[in-house]
Amino acid sequence: MMNIAIFASGNGSNFQAIYSAAKNGKLEANISLLVCDKPNAKVVERAKVAGISTFVVSLGDFSNKEEYELVIYEQLLKYEVQFIVLAGYMRLIGSFLLEKFDSKIINIHPSLLPSFPGKDAIGQAIEAKVKVTGVTIHYVDKGMDTGPIIAQKAIEISDGDTEETLAPRIHQVEHDFYPKTLQKLFQQVETNKS
Ligand code: GRF
Repeated sequence: MMNIAIFASGNGSNFQAIYSAAKNGKLEANISLLVCDKPNAKVVERAKVAGISTFVVSLGDFSNKEEYELVIYEQLLKYEVQFIVLAGYMRLIGSFLLEKFDSKIINIHPSLLPSFPGKDAIGQAIEAKVKVTGVTIHYVDKGMDTGPIIAQKAIEISDGDTEETLAPRIHQVEHDFYPKTLQKLFQQVETNKS
């Protein structure tokens, strides 16, 4: 069973989807820890209800990102975390954690990367008037949504779609696609070990 930490900053609907998949055996992973950089985020409440250990930490309490990530790293060691799964974590991962978790940090992004990286990817797609957008799951590197792509799923944009009508369809896909992709990835990792 893969020990994972989920990093999130906000609502946590992807946290919830991963938690549910793990609970009902569709994802063979143990969510050891939620790391959250926003004390009032809804995801903290979700983790509490789910009985998942939570580490809340604010970058502002440290003099630099390396010190912040060192404190997180100590928690990851304590919980024997093997993979970091980002789910709406609104910060770039710094060089310290990237080095410690080389090729073991995964992110989900609501566009077909490399199109529309960064914030408000769904709004960016509407603005650009593209006919197809989607969801990308990728390894994390030091750039903003630039790491090697693991899996993608396309979603059509209809005439008249707005950010409000498109966002729920994207999130619905995310909630199914993220746990499934993680399951495949973790199975591959296990197979390669043996
Ligand atoms: C998702 O759209 C994800 O793709 C992006 O941030 C959003 C997080 O949503 N990285 P939630 O907090 O999981 O509800």
